[in-house]
Amino acid sequence: MPQRFRHMLGIEPLSAEQIAFLLDQSKSFQDIQRHPLKKLATLRGKTVALAFFEPSTRTRISFATAAARLGADTMNLQAEVSSLRKGESLLDTVRTLDAMKPDCIVMRHSASGAPEFVAGQLEIPVINAGDGTHEHPTQALLDALTIRDRKSALMGLNVTILGDILHSRVARSNLHLLGKFGCRFTLCGPAMWLPRELECLGYPVRRVARVEEALEAADVIIVLRVQQERLHEPALPLEEYILLYQLTPKRLGLARPDALVLHPGPMIRGLEIAGRAHGPAVPAHRNTFGRFRGRRRCCTLRTGA
Ligand code: MLT
Repeated sequence: MPQRFRHMLGIEPLSAEQIAFLLDQSKSFQDIQRHPLKKLATLRGKTVALAFFEPSTRTRISFATAAARLGADTMNLQAEVSSLRKGESLLDTVRTLDAMKPDCIVMRHSASGAPEFVAGQLEIPVINAGDGTHEHPTQALLDALTIRDRKSALMGLNVTILGDILHSRVARSNLHLLGKFGCRFTLCGPAMWLPRELECLGYPVRRVARVEEALEAADVIIVLRVQQERLHEPALPLEEYILLYQLTPKRLGLARPDALVLHPGPMIRGLEIAGRAHGPAVPAHRNTFGRFRGRRRCCTLRTGA
């Protein structure tokens, strides 16, 4: 068994052996999802605190479901209706949660490094559910499991990452994870969203301007959402983004027939990926679209968020 770790703050410090161990461990839990009775007693008597200081659908519900299915209770911090709104500090908020004796905290925050800071202050394990533009380790583990299931191995794949890479914690965690298994990366997107620093991580990374070139020979294509809430760069014409970088069926036809396409969600149809949103959107989603749509005429992705 590889060396154990107390927190899950990022993929970067993990070894390939530790990652493979986690992926192997998850297999039996994957099977349980298919059983009519999905409940286990693995975490019976334990309490998991879910502290999400940023919006989330998939990650929060996945953790809540995982805790319930493993027999744990959950405590839910709803940041938008908590005392944070009254000016309470992050540390005081998590100390309040800690006083109720959870066994672990799952935390998402807009500030890179916030989970690491909290891990240094509390005695219990902290799981990073996404911190700023830094890491989203559990998303990368999930992506790796999906890739391994579909491609049978992670070793040596050609991985294309498309879109807003600069602001994406998903991109960083995936680079660290898949890079440890010898994958080769092609990054494609507007030049200002392709940080050079990613070429210095020690993995084979190339930056490509044309999406058509980036898709050729890709085994895995990871499409990213434009992180509106983190944009600070000069405005980018929206039509230009769609024209140059949107993943369309025609462009996908350039990739290998067995190429696997992943998107961490939330997926903005009509922007990073072709298609239209169907059905009633949740308010935040609609606002996001509204903001893009509203700005369409002046053709900008600039945001003050
Ligand atoms: C994240 O929290 O980083 C998401 O899974 C991806 C996104 O928000 O675009």
